[in-house]
Amino acid sequence: MIETGATYVVMGLLDPDSIAYSVGRDIMKYGGKVIYTAQNERLKSIFFDRSKKLSDEEKQSLVIDYCDVTKDEEVKALFEKIGPVAGVVHSIGYANPKTALGEEFHTDAIEDLKNSYNISAVSLATVARYAYPQMKDGGSIVALTFESTRAFAYYNWMGVAKAALEAVVRGLARRHGKDLIRVNAVSAGPLTTKAASSIPGFDELSDTWNKQSPIPWDTINDKDEVAHAVNFLLGPYSKKITGQVIYVDGGASVIGGELLPHERRDGGA
Ligand SMILES: NC(=O)c1ccc[n+]([C@@H]2O[C@H](COP(=O)([O-])OP(=O)(O)OC[C@H]3O[C@@H](n4cnc5c(N)ncnc54)[C@H](O)[C@@H]3O)[C@@H](O)[C@H]2O)c1
Repeated sequence: MIETGATYVVMGLLDPDSIAYSVGRDIMKYGGKVIYTAQNERLKSIFFDRSKKLSDEEKQSLVIDYCDVTKDEEVKALFEKIGPVAGVVHSIGYANPKTALGEEFHTDAIEDLKNSYNISAVSLATVARYAYPQMKDGGSIVALTFESTRAFAYYNWMGVAKAALEAVVRGLARRHGKDLIRVNAVSAGPLTTKAASSIPGFDELSDTWNKQSPIPWDTINDKDEVAHAVNFLLGPYSKKITGQVIYVDGGASVIGGELLPHERRDGGA
């Protein structure tokens, strides 16, 4: 588990449905201090502040800063301001649903693809670059990814960005081993969030999970299971794990085809 009293930066809070929110809540439950980051104040006020899922008191108890990961100076300023940290969670991704996701894989929107690649993959290196000076005694960086070894319908260029993100994880693991900083990713099954709702065909993706996952997968409540794995990777029990992608997906990623009725917990009902 995480270190009591240590500071963790959890990046990618949009609203209480965000995976980032669940991760931060889990860190606090085990005694860590959390600084969340949202992309900017405008998005936070539209989505987080207006959400009815948390009371005003609960909202005000959270520490939320701002950081657009495409802006080097914002990432640099964030970590200089925060000071020493034990871990950082990168729960950030973006692809234009009109050009990079959907029925047609081919696109001429190259600028959109570059933007998606920058936000979803390259930014992990930007974050690591400015966070590592604040991890003088070592630390842990964890990114959120999605199964990138198979090509899923609709997920198109986000799948490509996730494959790149996982390669960035390995590159950073190699670079920061000497700093005793571990870099890993958690590959989550489909979860109901704002980012997920912008994926055309998300329901089909969830349906695929339902048919493949040996352990039943719950797109809402299993955010907590993902958070537990992130926190394992942030904490001292995973000290010799780096450069890895840990799957928290009910096992769907290792199954060929669909489960047969007798293999399902519900008997295929
Ligand atoms: N929801 C799923 O099914 C699922 C499954 C596996 C992995 N993931 C990954 O989990 C991560 C979090 O997504 P989520 O599902 O919680 O959705 P979300 O929409 O709640 O979070 C995505 C976050 O990325 C942020 N972001 C986008 N561009 C940014 C930028 N330029 N600078 C800073 N932040 C920026 C958004 O503001 C938002 O806070 C993403 O990497 C996503 O790909 C999601």
